[in-house]
Amino acid sequence: MTFVYPDAIISTAGHVDHGKTQTTYALSGVWVMKHSEEIKKAMTIKLGYAQVGIYDCGEEYYYTDGILINNKCPNGSEPKLVRRISILDVPGHEVLVATMVSGAAVVDGAVLVVDASQPAPQPQTVEHFAVLDIIGVRRLVVAQNKIDLVVKEKALENYEQIKKFLAGTWAEGAKIVPISALHRVNIDVLATYIAKTVPPREAELGKPARFSVLRSFNVNPPGTPPEKLRGGVLGGTLLQGVLKVGDEIEIRPGLKVDKPKPGYQPIMTKVLSIEYGGYKVDEARPGGLVGIMTGLDPALTKADALAGAVAGKPGALPPVWTTVEIDTKPIPRSIEGKTEPFRQGEVVLIAVGPATVFGVVQAVKKDLVTIALKKAVCAEQGSKVVVIRQVRNRWIVTNYGVLKG
Ligand code: GTP
Ligand code: MG
Ligand code: MG
Repeated sequence: MTFVYPDAIISTAGHVDHGKTQTTYALSGVWVMKHSEEIKKAMTIKLGYAQVGIYDCGEEYYYTDGILINNKCPNGSEPKLVRRISILDVPGHEVLVATMVSGAAVVDGAVLVVDASQPAPQPQTVEHFAVLDIIGVRRLVVAQNKIDLVVKEKALENYEQIKKFLAGTWAEGAKIVPISALHRVNIDVLATYIAKTVPPREAELGKPARFSVLRSFNVNPPGTPPEKLRGGVLGGTLLQGVLKVGDEIEIRPGLKVDKPKPGYQPIMTKVLSIEYGGYKVDEARPGGLVGIMTGLDPALTKADALAGAVAGKPGALPPVWTTVEIDTKPIPRSIEGKTEPFRQGEVVLIAVGPATVFGVVQAVKKDLVTIALKKAVCAEQGSKVVVIRQVRNRWIVTNYGVLKG
């Protein structure tokens, strides 16, 4: 059987504890929170990945891996795979908004998960929506979750609040699907609207390979003998082109070096294997989340050390920046209201593509802000930049702009 590639990525979005990870689990059958800290705190900290098969069971709504019964349709028939998509599960906690932004940069659409038992919108519902808005994600389905906790009148009231929140935005008219992720109620309807709302990405296979690194891992258990060590793994998505097992790749910005002069040295390596959610293939294609094992020393990739980097065909990657000039604008619906002008010496967080890095404001000329970065980023000129600033001791998405130079 040939592998059907995921053809799009959707992310979760929404306030802390509204059920993003539970919804990912209901759709995919995969519990994406794996880190001990995440399990202990019952909170998503890192980006989680899952692949979801969407199936036709000959009924009105599609089924998914999470709701098939022993890989069969509930009516006993053989499920017909319609398509496969990837889900990127983001954290909702306010201090982790930068992680959400780096995920949003690569997605084709989002599922905004809203807890029906709370007044809507909650702060990170607003903030995540603002991020989707400015990054240019234009495909949205709302999962009105925890419907099992509320009576009908409450559910309707919450539904009206969500409608009002989206009114007048690009997402006005987005489908709002009442679900219980915990009890797997209406997941078929949610999946069907996701499949209808987010079309397959147009894959630009002819261009040079370019891969956004969202996560990086050392997959070797502690104590693995050197001869058994497996190479460093990059998790992320191919934006364009194809990557094949055996291909040489360059990774930028790469390693920080002091000699011959301070700067960054690109890393060169080879693709050793490629996996989509445990399924090994010979080539990666744009559209889904994929793991690439490289010939790199796993010490270089452990604990997300290469997250935010760009990998691809040697010599064809975007430039590397250590200082950026950004033409900034305030976010239209920031949770903070009015935005203060930038101050020289202010420490900010900026997100460009999958990278989020700290920087210090060097100069301010009206909307044009020059920022010296603590860590370099690899990005095309003209890329969208999200600026996260400290407001009363909280990191808040306040501005966005375009990378000018
Ligand atoms: P963060 O990653 O921390 O932002 O949270 P999250 O949005 O991923 O929420 P998560 O899926 O971890 O769910 C939070 C809590 O809500 C857990 O205790 C879930 O069991 C519970 N929960 C999620 N979905 C439902 C639901 O449909 N009904 C009920 N009753 N509880 C739910
Ligand atoms: Mg939580
Ligand atoms: Mg979560």
